[in-house]
Amino acid sequence: MTLFPGYFETPFATSIIARAKKGGLVEFDFVDPRDFTADRHRTVDDYPYGGGCGMVMKPGPVKSALDFVKQRCAAAGAEPPLTVYLTPQGELLKQKTVVEFSEREHILLFCGHYEDIDCRARSLFDREISVGDYVLSGGEPAAALIADALVRKIPGALGNPESSTEDSFSKEEGLFDCPHYTRPPEWEGKRVPDVLLNGDHKKITEYRRARALINTMRVRPDLLKIERLSEEDFKIVKRYFLDYHDIGD
Ligand SMILES: C[S@@+](CC[C@H](N)C(=O)[O-])C[C@H]1O[C@@H](n2cnc3c(N)ncnc32)[C@H](O)[C@@H]1O
Repeated sequence: MTLFPGYFETPFATSIIARAKKGGLVEFDFVDPRDFTADRHRTVDDYPYGGGCGMVMKPGPVKSALDFVKQRCAAAGAEPPLTVYLTPQGELLKQKTVVEFSEREHILLFCGHYEDIDCRARSLFDREISVGDYVLSGGEPAAALIADALVRKIPGALGNPESSTEDSFSKEEGLFDCPHYTRPPEWEGKRVPDVLLNGDHKKITEYRRARALINTMRVRPDLLKIERLSEEDFKIVKRYFLDYHDIGD
């Protein structure tokens, strides 16, 4: 739900989202709250009570647009959508939320604009989600971001389904993905680790696990769920330091 549906033309016509759309794995629909105004100028915003700068989105068109979508779902015999207001004041988006959203039949993302929507309309939504501790000019980049993360989780959307299970934040232990390398084997004086070139799959798996553990510890120790790590994980990390004497790039 957006005042600027044109914003999504390129992101939704590109790469994985475009392929998923073409394959019938996902459908997008745009509803513009401006279509639910009654005046000649199709006004969706007004001055804030109490003064101050900026404009506020009026609650009426927000509710009418939401009701329209709910009625359309009901008429089609479909599950009502999970309604989400995108706001920096919402619950911070995490991979587990993305997975939860990807399992819903319908999800409705409301892109706010101006200073905010009228606070009374916020209670119309099931959830409030923030995509990070910063302020965007509108909810559109947040919606495009959520759509991209969500489509990756739809079975069949990725060429290789395993690439998403190995992604950062996807494992219960809260780990990053391991680092990746491709040809050439040496580039600007930096060599691809030998272990990745020798075809020993057990060693490669151990090496990747160690690097994922170490990189997470270095950059985001807050993510790691230590209690979920196995004894073998600690051994792998120890072996890594003994064998490689470094912490990687
Ligand atoms: C300029 S922002 C309004 C920010 C609001 N005055 C505040 O400080 O909480 C306009 C719209 O952008 C969207 N937005 C901005 N930052 C966001 C974020 N971090 N996550 C999700 N949506 C965001 C929301 O839909 C919001 O209504």
